[in-house]
Amino acid sequence: MIQRASKTDIDVLAAIHATAFSAADAWSRDVFDLQLAMPNVFGLIHRAGGLILMRQAADEADVLTLAVAPAARRSGVAQALLLEATRIAASRGVRAAFLEVSVTNIAARELYTKTGFTRVGLRRLYYSDRSDALVLRLDLSPPE
Ligand SMILES: CC(C)(COP(=O)(O)OP(=O)(O)OC[C@H]1O[C@@H](n2cnc3c(N)ncnc32)[C@H](O)[C@@H]1OP(=O)(O)O)[C@@H](O)C(=O)NCCC(=O)NCCS
Repeated sequence: MIQRASKTDIDVLAAIHATAFSAADAWSRDVFDLQLAMPNVFGLIHRAGGLILMRQAADEADVLTLAVAPAARRSGVAQALLLEATRIAASRGVRAAFLEVSVTNIAARELYTKTGFTRVGLRRLYYSDRSDALVLRLDLSPPE
């Protein structure tokens, strides 16, 4: 169900993102195209209707975006994407994953708590709606 995203998937990626975010926050095809062209960025698609993009910098990685279409929610899609993305990152030498999440995004905050992320910082007025962002971290173990 989970596959590596390539440039041929940008229509699907943009379509999923558009269902999950407001028009102001959804990423266009061009944004996905640019991101996937970067050698340190990889993306995964869940065929039920989900995606994740991660960017690696040395032994750290950031979750750039994570989105699940409304019709596919609460069936473990995001959790599966996070698990696979962090497994791939760990296999590439990543020892810690980071992300930002709005203090107002209860669904995502619950998801990240459940998957083991912990709070390491706060960025005030980070989002366009002036909400604060929590900075979260997950330590990754080297593969066996
Ligand atoms: C946040 C989001 C990615 C979750 O996707 P999902 O596939 O529904 O999440 P999962 O089914 O893997 O949920 C795993 C756990 O996260 C928590 N969770 C997910 N959605 C939740 C919600 N609406 N309310 C409370 N907890 C929630 C639960 O603990 C859930 O486990 P459970 O279903 O056994 O209770 C999805 O709601 C989404 O795309 N939202 C809009 C975009 C977004 O906010 N992206 C993240 C930006 S940082």
